[in-house]
Amino acid sequence: MHRTTIGLLGFGTVGQALVSLIRESQPQIHVAKAVVRDVHRQRSVDVPMTTRPEDVLLNPSIDVVVDVMGGRDPARQWIKEALHANKDVVTANKEVLAYHGEELLAVARESGRHLRYEAAVAGGVPVLDALAHHLSVVPLERIDGVLNGTCNFVLSAMEQGIPYSRALADAKRLGYAEADPAADIEGDDTARKILLLAQLGFHTTVPMASVDTMGITEITDHHLARLKSFHLGLRLVGTAALNNGLLSLRVAPTVYRVPHPFLSLDGPDNVVRVVSSAGTFWFQGPGAGGYATATSIVSDITRIIHRTISVNNPNTERYPIHPAKRGPYVCFTHDTDRSLPLGLPGEIRRLGSYAIVSEGFAAEELDEYGLCQFLWGEEE
Ligand code: HSE
Repeated sequence: MHRTTIGLLGFGTVGQALVSLIRESQPQIHVAKAVVRDVHRQRSVDVPMTTRPEDVLLNPSIDVVVDVMGGRDPARQWIKEALHANKDVVTANKEVLAYHGEELLAVARESGRHLRYEAAVAGGVPVLDALAHHLSVVPLERIDGVLNGTCNFVLSAMEQGIPYSRALADAKRLGYAEADPAADIEGDDTARKILLLAQLGFHTTVPMASVDTMGITEITDHHLARLKSFHLGLRLVGTAALNNGLLSLRVAPTVYRVPHPFLSLDGPDNVVRVVSSAGTFWFQGPGAGGYATATSIVSDITRIIHRTISVNNPNTERYPIHPAKRGPYVCFTHDTDRSLPLGLPGEIRRLGSYAIVSEGFAAEELDEYGLCQFLWGEEE
């Protein structure tokens, strides 16, 4: 049996789960070496470690380099060096792809190598593969979904009465959160993922700065309890929509009516909805965690081994980027003793103690009325 030899850049939660998965079920893959910052740190599996990246990047016995370290630098440089050294690359690093994906995919094409990144979006859920292949023949209108396992885990825990700080500490301990969880809760991780989905789905290139991004740091258990009393729920949702040839991308805490598929996810699960001219497709499953992410990495390595993928196609469309639409919003009084003022400006509809309004209120107006407002995710 021919064995494919891989080298790792990074050896944290995902790297260790990857080695376990390979040893359990992939005898055709051999893990030769891992580049790490600290060779003395305790790991759950044994792999020869080095602090010198050239031991992997320039190692003639390594066929595929796997980036599981995260961050923009030195990942960008090391991925380019690996491709120039005639190695295929598999990466779970959404940050480097969101900022430098176009450049890295061009280097891969010029070098005649593969750069695969299924693990970078929605962990173990094979949504990039579906967009790159099956759905690439269908014009898309919209991609949206819950794309950050940590935020989903934290919000669903808060709904059960677990305090925010404890839920976030649990997400870190369970290996869902980023090394710096600010990227999760401030929405940047979701922004990177919706950008990667949009680029593949709409065959285009989008600058990171054009993703209008808001996280969950302002959400309190009081907000969630109020929403629950109205039979509503909230999730951090990334959206990419193409309207009249204009593309807009947004990340925001968004409210839906119970039951809604975005609200029924457990713990770190993710869901992606793809609305196309051929109908709506749903992709759901474990979005964070070492083992789930490792399955996507192994799948990419296996595709490279079997050469069952086409070369990376350049993104040829250039859609003008349009600011995401602001609204409609759902609003309600912060204080349960205070009633919702009658006839709010831009009111579309009201149901008991909450109203749907076409545009958001400015901070002073929210203060004046004693209101909270969140983006409304349902059709009106
Ligand atoms: N921190 C990320 C999340 C990991 O919580 O979704 C998977 O990309």
